[in-house]
Amino acid sequence: MPRPKVLSTHPLFPAARTILDAPCDMDYWKNPERIPRAELLARAAGRDAMVCLLTEKVDDELLAAAPTLRMVANVAVGYDNIDVAACTRRGVAASNTPGVLDETTADFAWALLMAVARRIGEGEQLIRSGQWKGWDLDQLCGGDVSGKTLGVVGFGRIGRAVARRAIGFKMRVLYSDAVRAPREVEEELHAEFIDRDALFAVADFISLHVPLLPDTHHLISTATLSKMKATAYIINTSRGPVVDEAALVAALEAKKIAGAALDVYEREPQVHPGLIARKDVVLAPHIASASLETRTKMACMAAENVVALFDGRRPPNILNPDVLAAKS
Ligand code: GLV
Repeated sequence: MPRPKVLSTHPLFPAARTILDAPCDMDYWKNPERIPRAELLARAAGRDAMVCLLTEKVDDELLAAAPTLRMVANVAVGYDNIDVAACTRRGVAASNTPGVLDETTADFAWALLMAVARRIGEGEQLIRSGQWKGWDLDQLCGGDVSGKTLGVVGFGRIGRAVARRAIGFKMRVLYSDAVRAPREVEEELHAEFIDRDALFAVADFISLHVPLLPDTHHLISTATLSKMKATAYIINTSRGPVVDEAALVAALEAKKIAGAALDVYEREPQVHPGLIARKDVVLAPHIASASLETRTKMACMAAENVVALFDGRRPPNILNPDVLAAKS
């Protein structure tokens, strides 16, 4: 078979390029601006595979523009940017990057949790603005973390990694998920399964780790926010649309909750102006998995999925294996 023609919407990291360059005929989008949609449609045409980021929408329109595509490898674990059903209908394999980013993302969820509870952003701002007048007894008093109750919403790999870190903080850990975890996991992580509404009512910190699906869209809403304690914080490292940002701003304004720490937004890169204006909100630019080691592993994983398909092997992280069954 001739070398597969592959479009990568990012130059990736050298380690990932090493995996792709030998077996594939590569076209890397190297412009630091994200690839414009029209350019993406034009460049995908005639390609056998595409390595893409979560900022690219892979939908019927793109698949129709690129009828020779056999694989789309997402450099992300979340794949709400990909219409997997449309890929399957057209016989296009889709893959993601599970597992390699769990610890890095959990570390970051904790960094956000600590930052919002202990007002690190506000403290940094105080110093950088030249306004700090020195130590004061009641300066920037936040909320304690140790000994409090952590509520983990979505108890997959990342949610569990977040829960594991709470043991060192002597926290009570509650979790909600569509499926209860095995007893050994609950025991190891000292985690209690609880109904989601009850979790909202008792947790001091609520950390979100659900995929974006129709039933997790606006999971944090006026209704759920009204169940929370006035001293509680929300931490979101999952997907922006899991939180209704307007409802969150209104709840913060009305002091219905104590604060929020966010890495993801409903309309990235736009951030609700009400969030930007608030001191009780910590904002990060979607970097929870952004350690150099982890982002390199993610890019390599996507590259390996592409290479596997054209080697006649099952891509290790294929999301729609039916596509392979249909071909064999
Ligand atoms: C990042 O947000 C990812 O889904 O990997």
